[in-house]
Amino acid sequence: CHTNFSVPLVGAIDQGTSSTRFLVFNAQTSEVVCQYQVEIRQSFPKEGWVEEDPQEILQSVCECVEKVCEMLTHMNISTDLIKAIGVTNQRETTLVWDKETGLPLYNAIVWMDLRTQSTVDRLISKTPGGNKNHLKSQTGLPISTYFSAVKLRWLMDHIEEVAHAVDTHTAMFGTVDSWLVWCLTGGVDGGIHCTDVSNASRTLLFNINTLQWDLELCSFFEIPVEILPEVKSSSEIYGYLVGIPMNRCELEQLFEMENVEIYGTGCFLLRNTGTKPVMSDHGLLTTVAYKLGPDRPACYALEGSVAIAGAVVRWLKDNMGIIQSSAEIEKLAASVGTSYGCYFVPAFSGLYAPYWEPNARGIICGLTQFTTRNHLAFAALEAVCFQTKEILDAMNQDSGVPLTQLQVDGGMTCNQLLMQLQADILCIPVVKPTMSETTALGAAMAAGSADGVSVWNINTEHSVTTERYQPQINPNETEFRYARWKKAVQKAMNWET
Ligand code: G3P
Repeated sequence: CHTNFSVPLVGAIDQGTSSTRFLVFNAQTSEVVCQYQVEIRQSFPKEGWVEEDPQEILQSVCECVEKVCEMLTHMNISTDLIKAIGVTNQRETTLVWDKETGLPLYNAIVWMDLRTQSTVDRLISKTPGGNKNHLKSQTGLPISTYFSAVKLRWLMDHIEEVAHAVDTHTAMFGTVDSWLVWCLTGGVDGGIHCTDVSNASRTLLFNINTLQWDLELCSFFEIPVEILPEVKSSSEIYGYLVGIPMNRCELEQLFEMENVEIYGTGCFLLRNTGTKPVMSDHGLLTTVAYKLGPDRPACYALEGSVAIAGAVVRWLKDNMGIIQSSAEIEKLAASVGTSYGCYFVPAFSGLYAPYWEPNARGIICGLTQFTTRNHLAFAALEAVCFQTKEILDAMNQDSGVPLTQLQVDGGMTCNQLLMQLQADILCIPVVKPTMSETTALGAAMAAGSADGVSVWNINTEHSVTTERYQPQINPNETEFRYARWKKAVQKAMNWET
């Protein structure tokens, strides 16, 4: 039925913390033509450590691309119609590889990994007054285990192969986007070593005002600038994968939206602040959202980052065996419709925004003989919603203009109970596009509209159908539960005292 299909297509590699996907979009209608997904293994070699295998990440991308090409062929659609491929990724995750052998020198250290806490403490103690926000005016970020520079510093300090490769000038640093683009555009045979402004802005080495690697920051972390990738805009041709132009972009949802909450492994609330970086007084990050071409201005966002959202569901499944599949959590939680006074703060990686408290640890409290796994499942979903409320409150305080509705995206948004709970807890409507692939869509749009590709007109308006969740419970009830949650958070932050 597709033999006459001749519309340009654009691919998007979405390499997330928990899975890799490749989606192909119709550049004229923005519809997904086909997609494939592979789960990514994580390893936890020590308490607080989270690693992934760079080769597995690369293989997963290749597998997804191959499967999608097979699917297109079965649909009688020519793969020649794919005119560009965009990349979006798990941002701060850090890799170092050898440019001569093409091999990774260590596993990828995943963004939520906590091993760098003593590195962070040492770096903060170097700053006047021991101030974790000392680099904020240049980077928009606190000095935290979350960001790439401290992970790279750790690798240089602890992994001999990395230190040696840095000394002998064969080391290449990159976040996952750089690793993939380098490998897929030729690797040792002339691969392109680059990243875009949005990923660079998560390293603590990039000056968000000058939009360049900052030599003062490099010297603060004692990192040689030559191992860093070249920083490009989010929408230009970086290189070619079997003749198809590749590029990347991270916070692409914000092209079209003023704000969005992305529920992935973690959850991330973003508010577009336009072409000027706005600094937060309430624990949010200032980040580069995108730059739609080398000669276009950068657009910035305020971001509230929560480390553990979908990851708590995976923990209930993999570590506790309480559920067999991620989807099962909704059924379990819905069967009771309450946590029955149980509160779960999943501070597995400390607490990110708005607290930035690395020493916090997970806590489950309010248990009674009556508590079952169903209540625990409900408390886990509620935790995602309460954490979102905390960052939304911070966002409202920073901007002075409260959000009147929350637009959402990401894997967890297919959980209808979660979406309803979120509306109840925020006391504002939650709006979900029925096509919940806006991250990948944004990457495809950036790729398809790049100069030299130009198959996608990002100014064309497509009607987006949405599902809307209205708050349904009494705000007093929400306030009561939120106050209890806040008490649990205090306990998670002071669990040792
Ligand atoms: O900052 C980390 C974030 O980019 C992870 O994204 O899609 O893996 O939840 P995801």
